[in-house]
Amino acid sequence: MQVVVLTGAGVSADSGVATFRDAGGLWEGHRPEDVATPEAWAADPALVWRFYQARRAALAVVEPNAAHLALAAFERRAAARGHGFTLITQNVDDLHARAGSSAPIHMHGELARLRCERCGAVRRDTTSVDPERFVTCGAPGCGAGALRPDVVWFGEVPYRLDEIARALADCTHFLAVGTSGAVYPAAGFLAEVRRRGARTWIQALEPPDNLDASDRFVPGRAAEILPELLDELCR
Ligand code: OAD
Repeated sequence: MQVVVLTGAGVSADSGVATFRDAGGLWEGHRPEDVATPEAWAADPALVWRFYQARRAALAVVEPNAAHLALAAFERRAAARGHGFTLITQNVDDLHARAGSSAPIHMHGELARLRCERCGAVRRDTTSVDPERFVTCGAPGCGAGALRPDVVWFGEVPYRLDEIARALADCTHFLAVGTSGAVYPAAGFLAEVRRRGARTWIQALEPPDNLDASDRFVPGRAAEILPELLDELCR
């Protein structure tokens, strides 16, 4: 068995992290999608910085939920049985790692990392969360390059697509959890592995846009459903 799990905002919803599309809400009068772009950063860096600093600060007050923990436990069980396991997440929070997942692939980057726009240096930083204060690089030879959140914005290329392609090529069982199937390339993974013969399952609160590419849809809250569903997947 080669299991690939793709998670989205829904897996962290029960930890109190807002999803992108369910909230229906605006942030300071903006749609989150409109703030998460290189164009917004160029036009109004203070606005984008405030948006991300609020999310970076929120990391300190959220905890992994039963869904994150179930995925970490599943990874250990899969390894003990000799199965392959890859966890791909679109989420920029750090809850999978904090739950014990060993190597989540953050295809949309991570809030806990900042990247220098001048020299490209990346550093982990969860403490500089003042919404009014930009942070500069200070790497040797760089100086004061501006740091931006190391997240993938709309119009930018997701991270680690080569590794993801390799995992999808070998995949026999694919489970998408808590993702609306609206953002590509992630939304296309399901159809891709299914074409190659993998079994495809979706777990989410609402049917996602790419429902057609799934063999089975399990509605409900990930924190309630995932522990049992993952047992079933492994059987
Ligand atoms: P969305 O906000 O688009 O979708 C959230 C999904 O989670 C929906 O399908 C809900 O039905 C489901 N959901 C909500 N609460 C849940 C719960 N408790 N248990 C299970 N499912 C639940 O989030 P994503 O699909 O992750 O990209 O969004 C994909 C990407 O679009 C994000 O990574 C981000 C965003 O804009 C970038 O920023 C590049």
